[in-house]
Amino acid sequence: DPKAPISVDPFQTVAKELKFLTGNIRQLLGSGHPTLDTVAKYYTQSEGKYVRPTLVLLMSRATALTPKMSRESSPLSVNRPITSPSVLSDENPSAPDAEYPSVSSFANDAAYRTEDSEILPSQRRLAEITELIHTSSLLHDDVIDHSVSRRSAPSANIEFGNKMAVLAGDFLLGRASVALARLRDPEVTELLASVIANLVEGEFMQLKNTASDERNPVWTENALTYYLQKTYLKSASLISKSCRAAAILGGSSQDVVEASYQYGKNIGLAFQLVDDMLDYTISGEELGKPAGADLELGLATAPLLFAWKDNKSLGKLVGRKFSEAGDVQKARDIVSSSSGLEQTRALAQEYVDKAIESIAFFPDSDAKDGLIEMCTKVMKRRK
Ligand code: FPP
Ligand code: MG
Ligand code: MG
Repeated sequence: DPKAPISVDPFQTVAKELKFLTGNIRQLLGSGHPTLDTVAKYYTQSEGKYVRPTLVLLMSRATALTPKMSRESSPLSVNRPITSPSVLSDENPSAPDAEYPSVSSFANDAAYRTEDSEILPSQRRLAEITELIHTSSLLHDDVIDHSVSRRSAPSANIEFGNKMAVLAGDFLLGRASVALARLRDPEVTELLASVIANLVEGEFMQLKNTASDERNPVWTENALTYYLQKTYLKSASLISKSCRAAAILGGSSQDVVEASYQYGKNIGLAFQLVDDMLDYTISGEELGKPAGADLELGLATAPLLFAWKDNKSLGKLVGRKFSEAGDVQKARDIVSSSSGLEQTRALAQEYVDKAIESIAFFPDSDAKDGLIEMCTKVMKRRK
């Protein structure tokens, strides 16, 4: 019955793979320098939501049942075993756990055994790489945002200072890049490398409130277009391209690869729209990170942009980035009495509907139900 309610817990569907994720990531982050080792592994101690790796694992499983690209037409060297020795073991002889397992050996590792699982070792590794890139961006983001908490604990910049937080973020990117290179798939490498550039581009777009950065900007649709482009770059790029990479590693046909990307792009945009809404509606305690931070940072996100459309007096506050005394409170009041939060939710709902629509042609499976359920979870989440 296609109308039967979905009862699957998406995190449960890939629980077996997720169980090893943090341990494997910690292994990728081993350093002979004890302080670097500690700072690099810091965010692996607190429980993240694992949204991105969960999506990669679910997509891997859901696409395993779809048509494959024919071997001859595939330009990719999917899952080719690697025989060369680990570079990291030479680089870092003093690190007890810096030894990087090669693809051929990690396939035999208990943590990567694939029996009764359609998820390939390379796709599990992709899930880890995706979480590493995400965590790296958080280390940098908390410095840029002067944030004091993350995952209900002091943020790394508070615990270790800006310099070490930034360097640890760079170290995560380095190790993520090594793991990526080891997948021996040039298209996947290119995709994830472009994500790193996109994250920086998104963050740069955010440094300016509007495309023109005028003193007293007038509201136009461009403000929303600019915001959505920024949102794609800073949030949806990682999710969409890692979903695409999962399908590529599985040898999926071109239309399946494209559908995986569209799913990721749309749920990614919805995810950040909800994030920007929660910044207005949920307490910092519940979020596990500072709430109401965006206006304080001078940022006009979706709820404010929608409110501005109906209340043109917000223009001058946007122009001066809510920097004068009382600006933040005034903006907050205008947003609460507007339909900005509702409109943000409605737009996020449109995106998750599109995400579900894009994978509608996948054969029915628990993993596909999980991908659909993730859309509901994104809309219902409070942290
Ligand atoms: C969180 O947004 C931040 C991001 C989604 C991306 C941040 C990207 C950079 C800092 C660019 C540099 C990244 C790398 C990998 C070199 P937010 O501040 O709106 O969310 P928050 O409330 O969780 O802090
Ligand atoms: Mg932040
Ligand atoms: Mg930020």
